Amino acid sequence: MKFYTKLFLLCSLGVAFIAVQWSGSSFHAESLKGARVLVTGASTGIGEQLAYHYARLGAQLVLTARRGNVLEQVVNKCLEMGAQKALFIPADMANPADSDRVVQYAIDQLGGLDFLVLNHIGPSPYGMWDGDVEHTRWLLQVNFLSYVQMAKKALPTLENSNGSIVVVSSLLGKVSNPFELPYAATKFALNGFFGGLQHELAMQGSNVSVTICTLGLIDTETAMEKIK
Ligand SMILES: *[C@@H]1O[C@H](CO)[C@@H](O)[C@H](O)[C@H]1NC(C)=O
Ligand SMILES: *[C@@H]1O[C@H](CO)[C@@H](O)[C@H](O)[C@H]1NC(C)=O
Repeated sequence: MKFYTKLFLLCSLGVAFIAVQWSGSSFHAESLKGARVLVTGASTGIGEQLAYHYARLGAQLVLTARRGNVLEQVVNKCLEMGAQKALFIPADMANPADSDRVVQYAIDQLGGLDFLVLNHIGPSPYGMWDGDVEHTRWLLQVNFLSYVQMAKKALPTLENSNGSIVVVSSLLGKVSNPFELPYAATKFALNGFFGGLQHELAMQGSNVSVTICTLGLIDTETAMEKIK
């Protein structure tokens, strides 16, 4: 039981992090009504919860993940919760062509984008690194390179709408720990790249803002399975 208390505290911390991001000076709930939002990794966990959050505020959503049948259920819930529009497109972010295809679909369906919310991750085993370089390469594509590609594809439309890129990262992208090496490496890469992009966009007088959400341990099904 003590373990679960700890876990609860950690996930409250994670939620607090999100709350802080959303109560920042640039946040106005009203401004999300009708906002055009693409959420990746939206079939479960944080991505699913983020989709519901935007839905309650009346956003227009495009959701993506690998499993279309699960996305369809999330889309229906979003519509019940008040989303102005909710669509889904199944995609596999291990396939570079899918990154561009998903962003293009969202732009076509919503007439542009206000928020690009990058959150998806590929599965990675919890345990000592087993020397599987191929899996590490694959994970870097899914958890990092596809983020870069989607951001690049969406930047012109976000520039026109004064939009935002939201990147869901992790404490494991800031502090080195055993047992999740490839995962941590991809999160370090995200923090390095999008942290730097934040500065470069500001230096260029860009209209686009970048928000990096650093989450602690969150009580999602996947996380719980790994820790058991
Ligand atoms: C974007 O922000 C600029 C000021 O930085 C403003 O002039 C412009 O109207 C805004 N565009 C949109 C689409 O909100
Ligand atoms: C920002 O938006 C304004 C108008 O909304 C546009 O004129 C300007 O070119 C944009 N800035 C960049 C860096 O594209």
